[in-house]
Amino acid sequence: MSTIRAEPATPPTAGRPEDTSRATVAAGLAEARDRTFQLVASLSRDDLHRQHDPLMSPVVWDLGHIAAFEELWLTRNLSGVIEFAEMPGLYNPFEHPRRVRGALELPDLLEVQATMAEIRARVLDRLETADLIGGPTLLRDGYVYRMVLQHEYQHDETIIQTLQLKQGAPYTPPVRRSLPLPRATLDPGAMVRFPGGEVRLGTDDRATAYDNERPRYTTQLAPFWIDVTPVTNGQYLEFMENGGYRRRELWTDAGWAWLTEAGVVSPKHWVEDGGGWSSRSMDVVAPIDPSHPVCHVCWHEADAFARFAGKRLPTEAEWEAAASWDPATATQRPYPWGDAAWSPELANLDQLAFRTAPVGSYPRNVSPIGCHGMIGDVWEWTASDLAGYPGFAPFPYREYSEAFFGPEYKVLRGGSWATRPGAVRSTFRNWDYPIRRQIFSGFRCARDA
Ligand SMILES: [Fe+2]
Repeated sequence: MSTIRAEPATPPTAGRPEDTSRATVAAGLAEARDRTFQLVASLSRDDLHRQHDPLMSPVVWDLGHIAAFEELWLTRNLSGVIEFAEMPGLYNPFEHPRRVRGALELPDLLEVQATMAEIRARVLDRLETADLIGGPTLLRDGYVYRMVLQHEYQHDETIIQTLQLKQGAPYTPPVRRSLPLPRATLDPGAMVRFPGGEVRLGTDDRATAYDNERPRYTTQLAPFWIDVTPVTNGQYLEFMENGGYRRRELWTDAGWAWLTEAGVVSPKHWVEDGGGWSSRSMDVVAPIDPSHPVCHVCWHEADAFARFAGKRLPTEAEWEAAASWDPATATQRPYPWGDAAWSPELANLDQLAFRTAPVGSYPRNVSPIGCHGMIGDVWEWTASDLAGYPGFAPFPYREYSEAFFGPEYKVLRGGSWATRPGAVRSTFRNWDYPIRRQIFSGFRCARDA
């Protein structure tokens, strides 16, 4: 078990397409593993093995799965093409859906960590002779290593969802990064106009991007308005106080059916105490701060709020254009703020704040058209179902994204405070069922121009 350590002075650089040396790849893998262990260092055996919620795996399963995925792609696959189904049964997500993982016979942490170390040693050994320049597509520019890195980053966010749902004593974060001050004063609900026209979205990058972000495509957008900030707790409280959860006309049929069954009256992790509302983030319970983005709402709640506000959710293309397209220069930005890799003053990413920040806390986190905070704090629900872009080709395995295409899943964009910076960018696509609220999800609204 690694000991708790201070956060690194410099952000990780692996995950950036320009860094493909073996030393950088190895450093990136080590840094990702340090974070994973840092998150779980304080957990007891029961904390690690218990299924805290039917939606989540026991934390020790996530650890074993991280290692099994790494072994599959960075050892076995480099010696000959494999199928995703070859992942060892215990850690194969398709063989064992989350709700049954609590019943699996899972090894103890020390055993899992020994397996992780043994796999990592073989991975580093194999890396010595890997051709990262002229090798097959999977290896070129270190893609497969970055894919495995991102997989670990993504499971770290999943583990944090589990820790927020933890049974027993609440989780105490190992560190708590302070949030920046002062901040820009922004008017919640203010909108900015996107002029429409031809935009380029998606990417052709093959060093970092997942298959579902490719290929880059050109599309025509009608002009639209979009919120300058994510919807805040203050705005959401207005929706609640105005009967938002009781007004049938604000909800779709599916949304009303969900609401009737779920019987909720607030975002997840909110509690009513006497005169007002509080929310809990890990071990901290605090009165609702109206200046923070609302978090832990499902797609149906976001959609109902938008109707209440006389607005709608943005389509995925509108969201990405508002985050990345500069209409003045007809160019696309990798991040809303430009080309620079993430650093702590740019956006609330990288987990260690263990909470959202008030809107406007990151004055440089502004897109070309003037949207704040599109990356960081909360994932943002969009109106769109998950689908492949025109010309989509699964790579390197169908089960990463193509298996999920269809109307069952809604797309979320932009990452949350619990997202590692190497696992988000303007083109990055996340998805989930429209009823999910354990994720760090919020939204912003749009409107036709
Ligand atoms: Fe996974």
